[in-house]
Amino acid sequence: MRSARAAPFLEAQAAFAAAHPEYEGTASIDEVRARDFGRLDALGHVYLDYTGSGLYAESQVRRHAELLLGHVFGNPHSTNPTSIESTRIVERCRRGVLEFFDADEDEYAVVFTANASHALKLVGESYPFAPGDQLLLTFDNHNSVNGIREFDRARGARTLYLPMVPPELRVDESVLDRALDGALAGGHNLFAYPAQSNFSGVQHPLEWIAKAQTRGWDVLLDAAAFVPTNRLDLGRWHPDFVALSFYKMFGYPTGVGALIARKAALARLHRPWFAGGTINIASVQADRFVPSPGAAGFEDGTPDFTNIPAVEVGLELLRSIGVQRIHDRVEALSGWLIEELLALHHGNGRPLVRLYGPGTTERRGATLAMNLYDASGQVIDHRSVERSAGERMISLRTGCFCNPGAGEVALGLTRPEIEHCFAAGDSRMTYDDLRRCIDPHEAGAIRVSLGLVSNFADVFAFREYARGLLEDDP
Ligand SMILES: Cc1ncc(COP(=O)(O)O)c(C=O)c1O
Repeated sequence: MRSARAAPFLEAQAAFAAAHPEYEGTASIDEVRARDFGRLDALGHVYLDYTGSGLYAESQVRRHAELLLGHVFGNPHSTNPTSIESTRIVERCRRGVLEFFDADEDEYAVVFTANASHALKLVGESYPFAPGDQLLLTFDNHNSVNGIREFDRARGARTLYLPMVPPELRVDESVLDRALDGALAGGHNLFAYPAQSNFSGVQHPLEWIAKAQTRGWDVLLDAAAFVPTNRLDLGRWHPDFVALSFYKMFGYPTGVGALIARKAALARLHRPWFAGGTINIASVQADRFVPSPGAAGFEDGTPDFTNIPAVEVGLELLRSIGVQRIHDRVEALSGWLIEELLALHHGNGRPLVRLYGPGTTERRGATLAMNLYDASGQVIDHRSVERSAGERMISLRTGCFCNPGAGEVALGLTRPEIEHCFAAGDSRMTYDDLRRCIDPHEAGAIRVSLGLVSNFADVFAFREYARGLLEDDP
């Protein structure tokens, strides 16, 4: 328990409050945390992995349970009373998702998926790639976006990558412009990038959406790491496809995500198969089928009709707290943490922390990737950091966070070095094999990420943990 506040904590908190007067405007989140997330402090957790998963409020679980206990939900693919009840609530949730993102229902459709990866795969497997077509990706992408390249290559299309420029780990706009100018006229060009990096927290401009579309690209926006703490206004921005996971926004339910797609873009996709639920009719003897139009054509089998209603409950929670308020809060906390971490130096003057990505809160979210170094300048193995932080009940993430492109640039790994390691390995090569091969480079990083109910005690705990690694003068 951190209730008996020590003087250093109180002093630091007072200094933080003075430096970030806007934080006071987010005090209602402290009440939400006390009321609805009491287990965090009761069990002594310092949760710093919101980019891994959001946390759920106790009221979400209760409201969802009440909803299930107060209705009889049957398989929605029918017209009996319990089926109608399920259909009604699933369709209400669909409208709720559109409303939450201010998406016009004449323009956008919501496909419920298992998670963001599933939404991305639906686009990848259905996009009409043909020889000469192009897939343009930022280096900075989750593997669930990188994997789309396997679909386009299998159909003879090309994959192009936009490198990140250190130290900020952003894309050089002139390089982007040149790549966008290379759209194949009359072909299919798909540009996929994350609104916020799950590695560095960099926010890539949403202005790229219209810029790419006017030059002939369809845009797939991976919003999974962005939407938990940032408002995505689909009345203002009009990506063709948006992928997200709801558990990253509000912790519960897991197993439900969405592909929010422009109806016109959805109509251009071709599913590689059909399934129960995705067709109007099919015949075995006539060997024919007629796909369902719109979102239904992308929801294979029975939708998760008992969990989808929990999405509505989660969206209401976010709406009641205010996404802008959450944003302001994590911005203030991450700004403090960045400054404090960068100020930590060993007795001999060497820095403890190397942050990958922007050193301010400008155009970045509250996801910080870093490595820690000892006084001799040797990196402290990120796995030992995860272990020792864990002993203090601090949950953070280490590794490459399924984002190898951003990681490779951040850690200064070159293509020949990585190719050499792949050539030296075999088909069973593991992450540890790669780590050993690229030694003495760092083969991963530490990630600290803030979210819905982060507070000053959380960031202070991590600063204190890091400070404990400082070495005095030799
Ligand atoms: C930016 C980004 N995209 C996609 C994903 C994949 O999400 P999921 O594992 O929920 O499918 C993640 C997960 O961390 C992510 O951060």
